[in-house]
Amino acid sequence: MTVPSAAVAEQLLLDAEALNPGAWVPHSRNVALAAQYIAERHPTLDPQRMHTLGLLHDLGRRTGPNKDRHILDGYDFLMALGYEDAARIALTHSFAIPDLDTLQGAWDGTPDEFVRLGQLLAPLTLSEEDRLLQLCDMLALADGFCTMQERILDVALRYTVNDRTPEKWRAQLGLKTHFDGVCGVNIYRLLPGMVERLLA
Ligand SMILES: [Fe+2]
Repeated sequence: MTVPSAAVAEQLLLDAEALNPGAWVPHSRNVALAAQYIAERHPTLDPQRMHTLGLLHDLGRRTGPNKDRHILDGYDFLMALGYEDAARIALTHSFAIPDLDTLQGAWDGTPDEFVRLGQLLAPLTLSEEDRLLQLCDMLALADGFCTMQERILDVALRYTVNDRTPEKWRAQLGLKTHFDGVCGVNIYRLLPGMVERLLA
């Protein structure tokens, strides 16, 4: 199992927060909780492992403030520590469609890094773990759980949109349909406080 223990993951997040404090840290904690709660209803996924992967999915923010280069920075950092499965999630979490053209906003790494990101993505077939973390990244703001639509707007306002964005949104919304079906429940019901907030 190439993910760190819960205690090590927590320390990695705290170390990264010291380097680059920001809303991405409470967002990551909420992604981790969403992943744990949904995995508890999922027939095959491990809740503790999904929590750890959620905590670490944005660890590349440690080199920030940054934009999409956090994907590659998180992958490289976690690979260097030997946590290959966590590195994979750092790589895949932004790619409901695994195509560089679906990234929103300008690339803030070097051109060579952009090429390398594409080379890393090309051979991947998305797994159920990849899909769960992609979903949960869309269910969490810094101050709590949110709908997919709220998060879509949050990202669009920070990153802008491009010609591929409607296709990406359809894929992201499709993730919820998939997990609703596999878990046999509207997954919003698995997130504490979510239903009450929507009806308030
Ligand atoms: Fe995230």
